Amino acid sequence: MILVTGGAGFIGSNFVLDWLADPAAEGVVNLDALTYAGNLANLASLKDDPRHVFVHGDITDRALIDRLLATHRPRALVHFAAESHVDRSIHGPGAFMRTNVDGTFTLLEAARAFWGTLEGAEKAAFRFHHVSTDEVYGSLKPSDPPFAETNPYEPNSPYSASKAASDHLVRAWHHTYGLPVVTTNCSNNYGPYHFPEKLIPLMIVNALAGKPLPVYGDGQQIRDWLYVKDHCSAIRAVLAGGRLGETYNIGGWNEQANIDIVNIVCSLLDELQPDPAGPYARLITYVTDRPGHDRRYAIDARKIERELGWRPAETFATGIRKTVAWYLANREWVAEVQSGSYRDWLARNYGGRVADPA
Ligand code: NAD
Ligand code: DAU
Repeated sequence: MILVTGGAGFIGSNFVLDWLADPAAEGVVNLDALTYAGNLANLASLKDDPRHVFVHGDITDRALIDRLLATHRPRALVHFAAESHVDRSIHGPGAFMRTNVDGTFTLLEAARAFWGTLEGAEKAAFRFHHVSTDEVYGSLKPSDPPFAETNPYEPNSPYSASKAASDHLVRAWHHTYGLPVVTTNCSNNYGPYHFPEKLIPLMIVNALAGKPLPVYGDGQQIRDWLYVKDHCSAIRAVLAGGRLGETYNIGGWNEQANIDIVNIVCSLLDELQPDPAGPYARLITYVTDRPGHDRRYAIDARKIERELGWRPAETFATGIRKTVAWYLANREWVAEVQSGSYRDWLARNYGGRVADPA
């Protein structure tokens, strides 16, 4: 078995689905607290697959983690569980400290105790794979080279600070205790099952509902977008062949300004689901910027390419077309996640932002 945390969220569920798509794959124990971002509907296709064991629980629950490790004796722990949305971290940082920092600490301590009981080949094979973000490196200027693994950490938001803290804990548990860890720092993902609080799915669902498309500030902030299944294949590559104690940056060499992303989404919707009221881009509305908004992220992915031969399978053109088509084909999934608590979030995050003629 492998133990996955956060496997009902966006990237975690894509990872579990891809992993179990291989009939020869080891089983997955999937531990998830099912916060607003966790959704068992993402895993519906696994309901009759005995290789998938879902456990509803919290990564800060040490007794539960100890029990899962002792019972299933996983050969790896792949840690996705986190509070992941920057805007939510600005409104309420506490949950980010609890899950991202305390939760990672709890998992490291439980993994250390379990690993200490292993011997021989089982001990040598064990891995703790920590899934992290490029946001720990801070913000780039237009002329800066992309983030390499050697860049200093300069996190700017409560979210990225909590992820940076967790990365440091993982590093220290390797350095001090010898725990066999690998860390990956990935750029912005997009694809199926992406919760519509994040830029790309929010723009798709708002456009289809005829609602404004809120672009923060001048819309010239740059992100480096990677199709989620390419992130999953990179994690598999690092889990299989990454060097212990090392970090690997993952990205698609695909820097795009937010406003360009929104226009691409609008053009695809114009083609695939035309709106009789006119082009979707008419809904673009510039609004008050995110406080402390990082201007540019970009990933230098040469280390994982060189050492592990990993390459993304999708270009942005193919990945974004698949993504828009997925949202059009999965309206029920979208309707289900737009529950009462989702509407409360929209009011909290967008209610106070004034339209800004950038
Ligand atoms: P997500 O918010 O979609 O999912 C997070 C999952 O973790 C949810 O299923 C949630 O229920 C679960 N969870 C939250 N708190 C928990 C707790 N205390 N105990 C157990 N489960 C808990 O996040 P995502 O976008 O899938 O991100 C997954 C990981 O990848 C995170 O660690 C994130 O920092 C990292 N990451 C995300 C991106 C991205 O673009 N989304 C890019 C790079 C790295
Ligand atoms: O870089 C990796 C990170 O990417 C992950 O670690 C995070 O978990 C993930 O949420 C993502 O963070 P961002 O803050 O970059 O993603 P988000 O989708 O929230 O925003 C992308 C950009 O779009 C960012 O510059 C803010 C802007 N934006 C976002 C929203 C939700 C808007 O202009 N309008 C919006 O309504």
